[in-house]
Amino acid sequence: MERTFVMFKPDCLERGLLGRMVSRFEEKGLRLVAMKMLRVTPVLAKQHYAEHVEKPFYPQLEEFITASPVVATVFQGPEVIRVVRDMLGATSGLKAAPGTIRGDFSSSRQMNLVHASDSLESATREIAIYFKPDELLEWDATLGCWLQAPGE
Ligand code: CMP
Repeated sequence: MERTFVMFKPDCLERGLLGRMVSRFEEKGLRLVAMKMLRVTPVLAKQHYAEHVEKPFYPQLEEFITASPVVATVFQGPEVIRVVRDMLGATSGLKAAPGTIRGDFSSSRQMNLVHASDSLESATREIAIYFKPDELLEWDATLGCWLQAPGE
């Protein structure tokens, strides 16, 4: 079963939207398998956003992502990497479609509330940055049989 890294960013916590954002994923039927609250340090930010470190917007991104706590999570489900990216919408809240998390709650390119892995490779890399293997909990949700048919 596929897993993806989802991080609820400082703007999410500062605006008191964490519960509503986590609910979107629970309501969709995705399974939460890891969760921790932490403050991203500048070192961790550079590791997580390694592909953006040389970009002009990086200093502002680092300042933002280290400014307040975040909640790091891992969700599991069929095609979960694509499903979660679709639920988030485009990077900029100004361009994200209505109905998506960013389309409904963000008006910013930087303060877009939730980060999610964009590929299997980044999911594997990002999960390993934030979680030890034994922090990922394998469990069967009792209602799982009402979320997908056998073999789906
Ligand atoms: P995220 O999905 O976490 O991936 C990289 C983050 O950098 C992105 O969300 C935004 O928060 C931020 N970002 C991307 N592009 C820009 C930009 N042009 N200016 C400022 N921040 C950006």
